[in-house]
Amino acid sequence: MLRFTLKNWGPTMAEPEYRPGLADVPVAESAISFIDGKRARLEYRGIAVETLAKESSFEETSWLLLKGELPTQKQLATFDSQLRVHRRLKYKIIDLIKCLPESGHPMDALQAGVAACGMFYPTKDRTDPEKNWEAVIRLIAKLPTIVAAFHRLRRGDEAIPPRDDLGHAANFYYMLTEEEPSPSITKVIDACLIVHAEHTMNASTFSSRVTGSTLANPFTVVNSAIGTLAGPLHGGANEEVLDMLEEIGTAEKAKGWLEDAVLHKKKIMGFGHRVYKVKDPRATVLQELAEHMFAETSKPEIYNLAVEIERIATGILGPKGIFPNVDFYSGIVYQSMGIPRDLFTPIFAISRVAGWTAHWLEQLKNNRIFRPEQIFVGKNDQPYTPLGKRP
Ligand code: SDX
Repeated sequence: MLRFTLKNWGPTMAEPEYRPGLADVPVAESAISFIDGKRARLEYRGIAVETLAKESSFEETSWLLLKGELPTQKQLATFDSQLRVHRRLKYKIIDLIKCLPESGHPMDALQAGVAACGMFYPTKDRTDPEKNWEAVIRLIAKLPTIVAAFHRLRRGDEAIPPRDDLGHAANFYYMLTEEEPSPSITKVIDACLIVHAEHTMNASTFSSRVTGSTLANPFTVVNSAIGTLAGPLHGGANEEVLDMLEEIGTAEKAKGWLEDAVLHKKKIMGFGHRVYKVKDPRATVLQELAEHMFAETSKPEIYNLAVEIERIATGILGPKGIFPNVDFYSGIVYQSMGIPRDLFTPIFAISRVAGWTAHWLEQLKNNRIFRPEQIFVGKNDQPYTPLGKRP
């Protein structure tokens, strides 16, 4: 029997090359976002992310990603009101979240909540655009409510119901803190949600496309992506950056700590990127947001330390094309708003759900189930030794 290995690949076909991590391998055609890793350029449907962070809102940016163009005033108003209507969680889902272990990670609570939503809003038919759109609205609208509810309930407080009179960013902060954020804090949160919303074929988006290609339901698609984002090499890095800054402690210790880390091949969290070989444009936006926030107050020590670490680490790693990525400053911005560290990655998820669902819809338009190949490195034709004859 012919065992498939690349060696047996048909004589007429070019032998596909194995690329660990699928580095530089295109796995889909997409029009949603574009990165120029050498020019630090990130565009959502052709519009620069810096422009959107300054001029747009997360609601408008989500529509842009999903529909391919900026909404009319009427479209945005309708979309915004649909999101507000669908923010609430069924009381049974709140009860389920109440039963989760307080010490659990909020990313796991988010997956539990999203899976429960998929059970309450089952959709069988992937060919119905109306049903698909309804699921997208529910996912974008409800993820912030799930994150905020778990945070409140794990502390023994009641979950705070969403407010229909607040926008997406302000309402999330309100559900976390029971306080209405100031306009400047609202703008910072909104800009953070915008810059995290989409990023071409990153690992969690790839997961959403793979799961979507099997025609799984949209809640399961997003749950695959949430699980992928949770890893410290991907969305979990923003939490790890704060741990690293705390471990280094002072600017005097930074150089020694970084040199030792690089010597021992330790990854510097918040640095490096598969595509960017210069400073991630989102890191620049987040740093500007931090500077803007700290202009009204004194700069926290941890921010000054981060700036010093960026300077030293860039000196060591810059020649290898390793620079700060989106996770390097995001945690500092969130921490300065009093947001707990283990909510940093869930905030990444409540933003990236816009990109994940946009890719899901795009995948369905021209779907073929993902099923790549492997290079077989095992043994063939092995005998079976009965248990009695084994040591
Ligand atoms: C995100 O893909 C996306 O777009 C992701 C993201 C998005 O918006 O979705 O941008 C969000 O995930 C940002 C990345 C957050 N992760 C981290 O900050 C964790 C630290 N970074 C690294 O783990 C790493 O840089 C990755 C995972 C981000 C990228 O990994 P690659 O492209 O697979 O690079 P690699 O691990 O193969 O490293 C190549 C070389 C290696 O050195 P050599 O063995 O070749 O000598 O660069 C070195 C690595 O050791 N290197 C680092 C480093 N990152 C790469 N060395 C020290 N510190 C680092 N951070």
